[in-house]
Amino acid sequence: MSDNIPRHVGLIMDGNGRWAKKRLLPRSMGHAAGMKRMIKLAAHAKERGINYLTVYALSTENLAARPKEELEGLFDLMRKYFAVNVKSLFKEGAAIRVIGDISVLPQDVKKLLSDAQTKSPANAPFTLVFAINYGSRPEIVRAARRAAEEGEITEQTLSAHLDTAGLPDPDLIIRTGGEMRLSNFLVYQAAYAELYFTKTLFPDFTSREFDRALSDFAGRDRRYGAATSAPKG
Ligand code: IPE
Ligand code: IPE
Ligand code: MG
Repeated sequence: MSDNIPRHVGLIMDGNGRWAKKRLLPRSMGHAAGMKRMIKLAAHAKERGINYLTVYALSTENLAARPKEELEGLFDLMRKYFAVNVKSLFKEGAAIRVIGDISVLPQDVKKLLSDAQTKSPANAPFTLVFAINYGSRPEIVRAARRAAEEGEITEQTLSAHLDTAGLPDPDLIIRTGGEMRLSNFLVYQAAYAELYFTKTLFPDFTSREFDRALSDFAGRDRRYGAATSAPKG
């Protein structure tokens, strides 16, 4: 692997429903397969030396628009993850962070999420960030209100009030499932992120394919507005 590894990767885990449909399974099975995949990819990202992996687990739009049973299934998966699976992450010294408005989630899920953050080690080399009931627009509105209450709104004060405060901006955003959009994910923070889209449905998105996205990223020319370099010779 190249040494040009992104510090922060955002992952839009899309395609669980279609993965299940192709197999004539209920959508909940697609989400369960997606959760297994996410666990593997988090371990892999850590191994690759990525410092932050932000996984889009539930958008504000999902919470408003998905059937109650599907949401209950997703909350059950979260219950299991944060009560059981998260322990192995902690054992390896990794941390958990949650972004999004979790105040409206079921009480027990909320508690598991805040406990996971409290129990997380400080200065962990790897942080798995969960975006749950997350949407960039409501996040920006919340941040702007708070920044305005305290004084002037600048890029610095606004960033300091975003849910992602303290996290570096994502360098690379990967979306599985074939759609080429951000769906309200880290819209402000992704101003200079490199984007990678794949048709692969999330439960099929292997560590190998993740590595392909990393190689693609390593070859990108991040100019940040500067001119392209002059031709050699
Ligand atoms: C993404 O998979 C996971 C969540 C939104 C929770 P989808 O459920 O959107 O899967 P598709 O897009 O219907 O295949
Ligand atoms: C985006 O996927 C949200 C998550 C992956 C959690 P969606 O499937 O909800 O996105 P749209 O509706 O196709 O834009
Ligand atoms: Mg989808």
